[in-house]
Amino acid sequence: MRITTRLALLALALLSYLPAARADEGMWLPLLLKQLNEADMQSKGLKLTAEQIYSVNQGSLKDAVVQFGGGCTGEIISDQGLLLTNHHCGYSQIQQHSSVEKDYLTNGYWAMNQDQELPNPGLTATFIVRMEDVTSQVLAGVPTQGIAEADREKMVQANIARVAQAAVQGTHYESFIRPFYNGNEYYMFVTEVFEDIRLVGAPPSSIGKFGGDTDNWAWPRHTGDFSIFRIYAGPDNKPAAYSKDNKPFKPRHHLPISLNGIKPGDFTLVFGFPGRTNEYLTSWGVDEVYSLSNPAKIKVRDAKLRLLDQDMKASDKVRIQYAAKYASIANYWKKWIGETRGLKKLDAVNRKKEQDAKFIQWAQKGTEAQKAAYGPLLPELEKNYRAVRDYTLARDYVTEAALGIELLAHANSLLPLVDMVEKKAPAADLATAVGKAKKGILGFFRNYSVSTDQKVAAALLPLYADGTPTALLPAYVKNLQKQYTGKTGWTTYVNSLYSKSKLTTEASTQAVLDEVGKGNVQTLADDPAMQLIRAIVTNYRATILPNYTTYTDNITLLQRTYVAGLRQMQTDRKFYPDANSTLRVAYGQVATYEPADGVKYDYYTTLDGIMEKADPTNPDFEVPARLAELYKTKDYGPYAVNGTVPVAFIATNHTTGGNSGSPVINGNGELIGTNFDRNWEGTMSDIMFDPDRVRNITLDVRYMLFVVDKYAGAGHLVKEMTLVGGPNGTATPEASKEVKKMKVKRKEKEKA
Ligand code: ARG
Ligand code: GLU
Repeated sequence: MRITTRLALLALALLSYLPAARADEGMWLPLLLKQLNEADMQSKGLKLTAEQIYSVNQGSLKDAVVQFGGGCTGEIISDQGLLLTNHHCGYSQIQQHSSVEKDYLTNGYWAMNQDQELPNPGLTATFIVRMEDVTSQVLAGVPTQGIAEADREKMVQANIARVAQAAVQGTHYESFIRPFYNGNEYYMFVTEVFEDIRLVGAPPSSIGKFGGDTDNWAWPRHTGDFSIFRIYAGPDNKPAAYSKDNKPFKPRHHLPISLNGIKPGDFTLVFGFPGRTNEYLTSWGVDEVYSLSNPAKIKVRDAKLRLLDQDMKASDKVRIQYAAKYASIANYWKKWIGETRGLKKLDAVNRKKEQDAKFIQWAQKGTEAQKAAYGPLLPELEKNYRAVRDYTLARDYVTEAALGIELLAHANSLLPLVDMVEKKAPAADLATAVGKAKKGILGFFRNYSVSTDQKVAAALLPLYADGTPTALLPAYVKNLQKQYTGKTGWTTYVNSLYSKSKLTTEASTQAVLDEVGKGNVQTLADDPAMQLIRAIVTNYRATILPNYTTYTDNITLLQRTYVAGLRQMQTDRKFYPDANSTLRVAYGQVATYEPADGVKYDYYTTLDGIMEKADPTNPDFEVPARLAELYKTKDYGPYAVNGTVPVAFIATNHTTGGNSGSPVINGNGELIGTNFDRNWEGTMSDIMFDPDRVRNITLDVRYMLFVVDKYAGAGHLVKEMTLVGGPNGTATPEASKEVKKMKVKRKEKEKA
């Protein structure tokens, strides 16, 4: 007993001496896997080499991963360009093909042959052809000291434009360069962008969005969050604009799909395009998010969501109009709440304070040069964070509260017209702009309930006026405060605003725009909604934004030096760059977790859990009749284990927004699932990771196959895929060529 305690203490002591990057944290650059991660990944169960994950010269896993549209990830799952992503990633495409008669959101859609696959103008799938460290070219000629951040940025951007263009000259590839490690390094990405991407299949929302907003960011989860597309290419297999003659794209690699399932401790790899993280903030940076920004934004959205919810419950029309808006407002509202709680639980600000203190000590101990470069750094950072606080808050209130009022956002979208007339823009330009605006407002009014918005305004305007530091409120708003006093002051003002404004209905807005078309902008400019938002926006541009930009530019610059210092200070720590919507590898293992004292969550969910959650009176938990039927007859094919179908599982991979749709891959390089969310208790991982509590949520690939094959009867799609393993080796026998190829390559490598 005593010896074990001592050993445990010793182990603990050792642990606390380990460098700060802990197990499973990190979104790694594919290019650096060999150097930084290969050995670690292999010790954790990876059977492949780094070269098999990312290679420029031969087919590798990266050739089966695409950025899907602007903000999601997708993976290639057949040799005919079949692409798997989330339902919530394909949502707007599915919606665009839907109508009352053919409601694909409600009923799902399945192309039974390639002729039925539906084109999606504007949708792209982007492969990474290669990536390259271009730091020295980008920083060539840029002074390291004595240059303003904005000037440095100009020089950097000029270099970037030149280098990126030269790299793809004379090819059909595209390229971009982004800063990494807070601007200490630059990497170039050469891409191949496909633009004929067709919708192949989507389950009904009662599967693809099962659990809705109730279960969003939550574990245990039962959402069949997937949709299937196909990439089409020209006759030369290269990107081509949509043509009915295009052919299914032949990829360099497609992911084999494993039916073997997962168990705790199994190696998992997530390959995708994480959007944005801030892992290297100082205590002041974390505190800004934790005690300033998040609370303000949460407070405003709390109020707005409460009012939307009331009206959506009272009217079917409003419910439909506001469903998508509500979901998007609620998504980050819920995330920020989870993030704030997670930061509190981790005592993040104090932990960062300890790290800041160590940094200051380290800087003081060093050479004269080290002292000069890093000594004054943190006090400077602190000064700038203090100075920017009011501007950050004012900015949050403008974007969340003022522009959170739809009438004001709508008026703001028409503000450029006023400017154009006042600046005497050419008549033709004005006519074009008015024409565009007139089209634009059609979409706005289709989903607008003026009575709902008026209630929102009455709640959000006082939050805006009280929350914004007084010195940063426009005079116009201060006058309103003087004019409309007392408890009902704002309500009185809002009533008059909504009764007088002509921008509250489609017809009266069109009439106002017709006037503008004739060069008469007075009605628009004098509209009380326009006057209010114009005062707010003008003040924002004149006072808030310039200061905000000055201080955040300073912070950017100091933060770059800080990260450079941190990398010198912690020589044995492996650093990964913050997410910036570029291709990354995260790896970890399947694991349970304890969300709260006395509670333990298992690592997987099943179809049984869907039936337990089923509730025909709650639209988030409706179960389609056909699924209930399959459950009754237990018609599961080869996709079941222990008499039920696995639905989702969790693992310790470090992921963020943008990783939606990312392939989750096992140690053999086979697809085991598709990433679609994070657990609520782990949402602070964008700022501070905690291996005990952070879990990515993955759709089990067997549930996807079950829905495609058994629920939708689209077995022809499953036949296209390469299945491996499964109960009694039921997977397609011709399968696994890809896997064998990989094993052979690895053996050859080992021999060499
Ligand atoms: N939380 C996930 C992500 O950040 C899923 C959002 C879509 N799902 C939903 N129920 N709103 O984007
Ligand atoms: N659902 C998120 C997305 O759309 C992923 C969740 C996360 O932030 O980890 O990318």
